[in-house]
Amino acid sequence: MTNGRDTWRSNLGFILATSGAAIGLGNVWRFPTMATLNGGGAFLVPYVALLFLVGVPAVLGEFALGRAASRGPVGAFRALAANPRWGWVGGLAVLTSTVILSYYSVVAGWCVAYVVGYLSGWPALVAQDALVGASTFAQVISTPRASIGWHGLFMALTAGVVIKGVSGGIERVNRVLMPLLLVLLILLIGQVLSLEGSWEGLVWFLTPRWADVTADGVMAALSQIFFSLSLGGGTLITFASYLPRRSDLPRNAVSIAAADATVAVLAGCMVIPALFAFQLPMESGPKLLFEVMTRVFKEMPATRFVGFLFFFLLSIAALTSAISLLEIWATTWIDERRWSRPTAALSGAAFAFALGIPSAVSQVPGSRLTLLGTDFLSALDFIASDLMLPVTSLLIVVFVGWVWGSNKARKELTEGARQFRTASLWEQAVRYILPVAIVLVMLGALVE
Ligand code: PHE
Repeated sequence: MTNGRDTWRSNLGFILATSGAAIGLGNVWRFPTMATLNGGGAFLVPYVALLFLVGVPAVLGEFALGRAASRGPVGAFRALAANPRWGWVGGLAVLTSTVILSYYSVVAGWCVAYVVGYLSGWPALVAQDALVGASTFAQVISTPRASIGWHGLFMALTAGVVIKGVSGGIERVNRVLMPLLLVLLILLIGQVLSLEGSWEGLVWFLTPRWADVTADGVMAALSQIFFSLSLGGGTLITFASYLPRRSDLPRNAVSIAAADATVAVLAGCMVIPALFAFQLPMESGPKLLFEVMTRVFKEMPATRFVGFLFFFLLSIAALTSAISLLEIWATTWIDERRWSRPTAALSGAAFAFALGIPSAVSQVPGSRLTLLGTDFLSALDFIASDLMLPVTSLLIVVFVGWVWGSNKARKELTEGARQFRTASLWEQAVRYILPVAIVLVMLGALVE
């Protein structure tokens, strides 16, 4: 490559790494939560539509930008724009990723707590009769100190990997464990659907209900797509910057979006029917996955083993995504200010850890830590995913479509592509459809 940077060893390696960064808590934890809060089948409609209308074209925009510049987000804008101020958009992406990392690590920390809990057989998780009707989550994450502690542990793990550099190890682990997570999801769906009352949940989730689609639901679907595909956070630009010119960008974008959505919908098919079977409240919020799955495992023969395996795989999925989030911060300071890798990684981890503390506390039973009328974690998630990610994405598509130029981007996308039949359509999308769609959806959510 032009500046002697590394490239991916194979295209499959890139797809797996990018899917690994995309697939994480966003799919298994956030998607089912958003779907239950926004009407199940009424959420699925805008989700699927916007995935192809906005998600895939936006991924292509970031891919074109990253590969053409072969730099991280801040450098990419500086390299391709006449006006260096565009570097700020990259800066916004870095900030957004770090805000996401702050509460992402809180939820991931709970996953680690559950891994330890199943390994050591905590009664809340394994005793059949311990808590009929009671919240398991409240027994596992019962104090602010516990929640903050697990958050800190997870952040330290993430920082540890990023300091060493994202080398072969974690990539190889990913290749084995992610398919395993997929297999486990499918097996668990089978188990859940054997529970009484579960089919009703499946029908509620999978039946498209156009009439029930709300502006809030459309906004939630769009922000879910941004979050889940890691759009607007700088990851896609960074990962594509390591691609060789012969790589097929359009094909890669479609594969990654499809893999990401498949895992999300599967997670929905697992969590939502179980929610119906156990008659848990629809508005459980961020705790939903944890409450539901512990009950499912109690119904199964090898409770401890299955519970351990599930949360272990989820922790790994979360770790790979968290690494990509912290790596954006680290790369930026290393490239732009020549910081050493340990300094860059530790400063990002420290910032995100501190910012995560209120989120961690806000989920402890009885906490009153709220913001914008909801719990702190959900509020921060709203700010980052519903506001910051769409705004950054908007700026990125405007940059690609109008400043750098959609024709240059199109040329970039065509290079190495076996076919890109929708090239003209994509140009229209990136110039008109995407910016308008993003603005409309955001306005819709604000006026409702
Ligand atoms: N896409 C990741 C997930 O679904 C989260 C993420 C967002 C990672 C933005 C990087 C950048 O879990």
